[in-house]
This record gives sequence, C-alpha cells and structure tokens, in this order.
Amino acid sequence: MSEKKVTILDVQQSKEEKRKLVMITAYDYPFGLLADEAGVDIVLVGDSVGMVVMGLEGTVAVTMEHMIHHIKAVVRGCKGPLIIGDMPFMSYNTSVREAIHNAGRLMKEGGCEAVKLEGGVDFAPTIQAIVKAGIPVQGHIGLTPQTASALGGFKMQGRDASAAKQIIDDAIALQDAGVFSIILEAVPAPLGKLVTEAVKVPVIGIGAGPDVDGQVLVTHDMIGLFEKFVPKFVKQYTQIRPIILEALAAYKKEVREMAFPGPEHSFTMPEEALQQLKKMVDFS
Ligand code: KIV
Repeated sequence: MSEKKVTILDVQQSKEEKRKLVMITAYDYPFGLLADEAGVDIVLVGDSVGMVVMGLEGTVAVTMEHMIHHIKAVVRGCKGPLIIGDMPFMSYNTSVREAIHNAGRLMKEGGCEAVKLEGGVDFAPTIQAIVKAGIPVQGHIGLTPQTASALGGFKMQGRDASAAKQIIDDAIALQDAGVFSIILEAVPAPLGKLVTEAVKVPVIGIGAGPDVDGQVLVTHDMIGLFEKFVPKFVKQYTQIRPIILEALAAYKKEVREMAFPGPEHSFTMPEEALQQLKKMVDFS
C-alpha cells in the first residue's frame, strides 16, 4: 500500500522538487490494488479502456457510463495514488455547461479526484470553466486519441516547426486555463523538452522523450497484455500473455484428463450423512 495519499499539490510541487512523476492506467479493482501496492503517483482511468479492455477499435465509442463504472472499480482498490478519470469523447465538446456537468459526474459518481480531457487552445475556455467549478483538470495535447482520425491516425505530432509551435502554444493556453498538469503524447523528444520548459505545471510524457516531468504508459501495453499494436514509445516490462496462456492450457489439460480437481480442492462430507443421503436418493 502507498505510504500516503498523493494530492494535487504533491503533483504540482513535483516539478520544482525535480521529482519525476510515475503514472499508469488502471480500469478495474485488481489493477487498482496493484497500482496502489506499487506506489505509483497517479492512476489514470483512461478511455483507453475502450481499446485494451472492451476490444473497440478506438476510444470514440466510450461513454460516461463506461467511465463511471470503471472509475468506481479502481477507486475501491486504489487508496494512495491520485486518481484521474478520463472524460470520454463528446462529454465536454458540445458545451461548457455539459462539460462541467460531466466532469462533476466523474467525481461525484465515479469517485475520482480529478479529470483529464484532450485538446489545446480551443478547449482552454472549457477547462477554465471546469476548474472554476472546483474540479481539478489535467490537459492532454500532442496526439489526442479521441480525434486521431482528424490528425491522420495514431501518428507522431509536431513534425514541423509550426505544428511544434502550436503544441507549445497549446501547453501555455492550458496552463493559463488552470490545469494542474499536462499529458503530452507522441511528439519528438526535443519538443517534449521545449514544452516542459515552457510551462510551470508538470508535463507528463507518453512518447515525448526523457526530458519531461514524468511518464505515463497504458498498463496493458507495458505488461504485454494488449498486443494488437504496440506503439514505438511503449516499453514492455514483462510479457504477461504467455504466462496466462500457459495457465489456461494446463487447466484445460487437467480438466480433460480428470487431474483437476484433486482431493485438496474438493469438499468432503461425513460418511454417515453420505450414507443417509444415498438412501434418500435411491436412483436404482
Ligand atoms: O486513455 C488513456 O489511457 C490516455 C493515456 C494514453 C494517457 O489518455
């Protein structure tokens, strides 16, 4: 278990204290417990749940109900890390009023402590309004998976100078709108460094190189549980699928061969009761 509760203030201060932030995703109770026990700083209940848990092609179809369901499960297991709930596509894009309402739902019904949403300069007014309503917001710029098709797919962003400058402008706009930190996804490492230097709030990278204030990875990617595609920026720290497959194959074999369950996995009943029962259910 984590020694202490990580707060928004801890995250904000980490930059000045030059303490790298460790953030991962979780979508259910067991992974909430694991993240807690590992002592990471931040757990994101990401809308990546749509791809790595629900088997969807992207994140667009993820709903508020899906997010609340998964946030609740993570919150039950995860007590130390700061828990952030991801705002799904179209839960904050249509009006500021709806954005505040939905951000509030993630906190009130889900139980997370902050929300994350994707978008740069254009979303600064929405973010400002949510923050003003008392809800801490984490921004997400660079590659924004919810609008990946408009960006040409799941591709690195900020390739030329003007696209890179726009990402720096996005970061500054989000900072001015009041975010407590920023996710920066899939940009060249030198741009990751420049964005990090441009703002006072911590910049947490995913495919943004080493010179940022922290790192985030999708847990199912980094443990080799989701292998449909593995982005360049993912390091697989283990390969969990072969271990699970080996266990399933052994179970299948033992059931077929009647090696499972053995006596150690079976309940007994008193001999007298068994004999009585046999008389009561005489099938002959
Ligand atoms: O949904 C998610 O998991 C994310 C991470 C990629 C940061 O947004």
